[in-house]
Amino acid sequence: MISFDVNRLLEIGMALSTEKDTRKLLTIILDEAMNITSCDAGTLYTCDGNSLSFTIMVTKSLGYRQVSENGQSLLPPVPIGKLEDCHNVSARCALTGQLFNIPDVYSEQRFDFSGTKKYDEMTGYRTRSILVIPMEDNYGKIIGVLQLINATENGEVVPFDPEYEPVISSLASQAAISLTNMNYATDIAELFDSFVRVMSTAIDSRTPYNANHTRNMAKYGSNFCDWAAKQGLWDYSESKKRQFIMSIWLHDVGKLTTPLEIMDKETKLGQGLGKVLFRFNEISLLSKIALLEGRMSKDEYEKTLSDISEAQELVLQSNAGARLPDEALETINALGQRTYEKDGEALPWITQDELEHLRIRHGTLTAGERKIMESHVEMTEKLLSQLEFTPEYAMVPVWTSRHHEALDGSGYPRGLKGEELSNEVRLLTILDIFDALTARDRPYKPPMPVDKALSVLHDMADKGKLDKDILRLFEESRSWEETQ
Ligand SMILES: [Fe+2]
Ligand SMILES: [Fe+2]
Repeated sequence: MISFDVNRLLEIGMALSTEKDTRKLLTIILDEAMNITSCDAGTLYTCDGNSLSFTIMVTKSLGYRQVSENGQSLLPPVPIGKLEDCHNVSARCALTGQLFNIPDVYSEQRFDFSGTKKYDEMTGYRTRSILVIPMEDNYGKIIGVLQLINATENGEVVPFDPEYEPVISSLASQAAISLTNMNYATDIAELFDSFVRVMSTAIDSRTPYNANHTRNMAKYGSNFCDWAAKQGLWDYSESKKRQFIMSIWLHDVGKLTTPLEIMDKETKLGQGLGKVLFRFNEISLLSKIALLEGRMSKDEYEKTLSDISEAQELVLQSNAGARLPDEALETINALGQRTYEKDGEALPWITQDELEHLRIRHGTLTAGERKIMESHVEMTEKLLSQLEFTPEYAMVPVWTSRHHEALDGSGYPRGLKGEELSNEVRLLTILDIFDALTARDRPYKPPMPVDKALSVLHDMADKGKLDKDILRLFEESRSWEETQ
């Protein structure tokens, strides 16, 4: 009758189901199986395609313990092959899921133990009893084999008591299930990560301007986290870093719904310029007809032509983003009052809507268009609120929804400030602006040199919008450099 501590078994079961590290889990299973059966040696093989990889090897009496690094087999792997020519006991166990309890390998005829005997010759060891158990998961898949060697009793090597078989089988299975679940969890996490990367790359690719925005930011963010961790500055564990990088990938996901004519708008009138120029041409032709029909004097006609040419120049200048002096703005305003006659109807030279575009003081977007552009943050929040983030990514929706806030409360959409913005949000904002300034793929403007971009960021920090210390760290880290 074998004896073992049931509480100990429960503890092992608990350890197996909560362990997140594959190597540790495999070590637990082999060590505990050896403890329970009081055996001297053991090998844990993992199935690797059509072979068994030596993952852990222990021989207590020789003081030998080896655990493979990076999944490399400790000895040449054992081929599993086909059943008819499978003479290795572990390979047979992996192939059939059968358990083998052999009292003495030297008198065993069913299997080829020449490898074991050779090992014994080399080391002076004497392999006698072995217990070979499949590690079968809940899908019936054998993911490894446990081979226990030389059970001992009162210092003597004895055969493995068959009563151990269900106990060790159940442990091996439990370990297999934990490993399979762990692999599934990793697969799902990887699938989610790659899906997010594909989606945000697709969103960035909607516009030719800065199609690498998110990718660049992820690179800078990752470099920064590694640098900060090395300096011992920020507590950036792998999982915290993953959460931050995930926030970068998702920060502009709301741009999915931003109209392209707003995202790609290079000029104030955008597509509307053609309409204005066409109208000026029409006014000039209608004036010529009026002149020929005697409804307009030559002086009036010439004055109209010169007004059109002045108006056109102003429109082109303003449209391209030039900051117009106040009197030019007045002239543009006056154009809104001016009309021409067509089919008995008085029509404006410049419509109210066009005037609103031409009067833009900064950039190329009207107040309404800017609002639509800015609403991508709310859309990001809305979209991400539909996703069930795991606890590991719990802060992603919070950090992403704050990437356009400013420390002094002048940002959007909520005007949050100071303590409401965590270090991660502050860094995300700096990375976002840095990449927007230094982007290389904006056809209408050359990239801003790094030094200039940093000085723009410092200006913003001086005005209280960005975190000075984090900006200084970012600058020190040189996270944007290719060599990282
Ligand atoms: Fe954004
Ligand atoms: Fe962005």
